[in-house]
Amino acid sequence: MNDNNVRPAQMQRITGEQQAKQFIEEQIQALRNQIGDGKVLLALSGGVDSSVTAALLIKAIGSRLVCVHVNHGLLRKGEPEQVIKVFRDQMKAELIYVDAVDRFLDKLAGVTDPEQKRHIIGEEFINVFAEEAAKLSGIKFLAQGTIYPDILESKDGIKAHHNVGGLPPELDFELVEPVKLLYKDEVRVVGKALGLPDSMVFRQPFPGPGLGVRCTGAITRDRLEAVRESDAILREEFDKAGLAGKVWQYFTTVPDYRSTGIKDGRRTWEWPVIIRAVNTRDAVTATVPELPFSLLQHITARITAEVSGVNRVLWDLTPKPTATIEWE
Ligand code: XMP
Repeated sequence: MNDNNVRPAQMQRITGEQQAKQFIEEQIQALRNQIGDGKVLLALSGGVDSSVTAALLIKAIGSRLVCVHVNHGLLRKGEPEQVIKVFRDQMKAELIYVDAVDRFLDKLAGVTDPEQKRHIIGEEFINVFAEEAAKLSGIKFLAQGTIYPDILESKDGIKAHHNVGGLPPELDFELVEPVKLLYKDEVRVVGKALGLPDSMVFRQPFPGPGLGVRCTGAITRDRLEAVRESDAILREEFDKAGLAGKVWQYFTTVPDYRSTGIKDGRRTWEWPVIIRAVNTRDAVTATVPELPFSLLQHITARITAEVSGVNRVLWDLTPKPTATIEWE
């Protein structure tokens, strides 16, 4: 049986620009053959896999690709703006931007259980996407940024990946998955050859439920803002210190409890920001890298001065195990 979800044994690992360019040319042809003069829909999150999928399709079929970017309110600072800038302004993509912030945050109000939060975010995402799809007519194809590890993990029953077999039945589309036989490192090489910015191509892993799992317990807008602002400061300072790309993943979490502090001579009752920075190969285990103490002090000073509602900064020194990488 010819299973086209199996990477052929003779397929070379894409490590350089030349190989990437060859893959891009082949895929453009294959996409044109599959799609003909049809139209394709794509949920564009701004992550590496969906961005590379979009860029390939734009090259192959131009404005017959319709991208939908759903802002669920749990994205990092500047992310929706970057998706619009790169895809709509620079690549001239047909991009529908959906501001669903209130919709998601209203559904999540008061929900404390992490798994229930994930479930609500996943389900609402499909609802929003299906509604947008229903508004468009004549679209036969759905593109997904499925990559090879997604296929392998689904086969092994490790996790039911949302890209594999997760389509709602009412969306009767033929799938287009141009990077499904590639490993993550190959997707990045292809993304670079397609001209995507480094900030997209070498992006850290970011959970689908986004900042929602970093605002522990019931999500509130003010605490979510504290997660977003502190994350932006952390990323900026790691960038400046030359740590971006050296540390595998780093982010902030704001738990749902407060402590006493003092600001401008007055007692405060505010949240802590917890910083997590880890190194790992595969996210199954992780270690905490040693970082310059002066950098930790500088980041602490910036966060407590600039992020409203925060009076403490804590550094999570725990490897995985015993802790997981995310707090929820
Ligand atoms: P944990 O917390 O399990 O995280 O040690 C391992 C890696 O997976 C990411 N992560 C997620 N990614 N949906 C995702 O797409 C999720 O619900 C999710 N939870 C954790 C996490 O950021 C880390 O890189």
